[in-house]
Amino acid sequence: MRLRFRHLGTLVVLALTLTRTAAAQSDEDKTPLGMRMTAMNAALRQITAQVADPSKNASTLEQVVIFQTNATEAMTFKPEKMAQVAEGEQEKFVTDFQEGIKGLLVTVDSLKVAVEAGRNEDAANIVEAMKAYQREKHPVFRVRKP
Ligand code: HEM
Repeated sequence: MRLRFRHLGTLVVLALTLTRTAAAQSDEDKTPLGMRMTAMNAALRQITAQVADPSKNASTLEQVVIFQTNATEAMTFKPEKMAQVAEGEQEKFVTDFQEGIKGLLVTVDSLKVAVEAGRNEDAANIVEAMKAYQREKHPVFRVRKP
């Protein structure tokens, strides 16, 4: 019995090590743009969880600023998918991408205004619109990965 427990302990340690290695690898695999997107995603997750709660508005606004900062930085990079586009169309592809992020930033600005004004229901609807926008733009600009 004691032997079995020892094996179990070894397995747990192995599983934890593998999980940590996998997480580290996926971070290294990310492009600089992907890292900004990941930060936007984390901020949006927290915003989603608390946007309807007026008592959390100060914290929501902090996350909105984090989202804005990362989205603004994201605009300075070129999507990985650009390499899959014909050379003559790459410039337009990048400009369209930048316009896409600019459009997102306009919506984020309206989110900020709504939270500041205590219009939490409007703010929650804006968050949903941001997610719909993400679903619309990702297939256009992001490399499809398995
Ligand atoms: C609510 C807004 C958005 C969120 C939360 C979001 C989140 C993400 C996440 C989590 C990734 C994967 C990052 C990784 O693991 O590498 C990603 C990738 C990407 N997203 Fe977004 N995204 C949003 C909006 C947009 C918009 C509007 C565009 C384009 C106009 C866009 C373009 C891209 C591109 C191009 C990638 C791939 C990274 C690369 O090519 O280097 N995203 N996004």
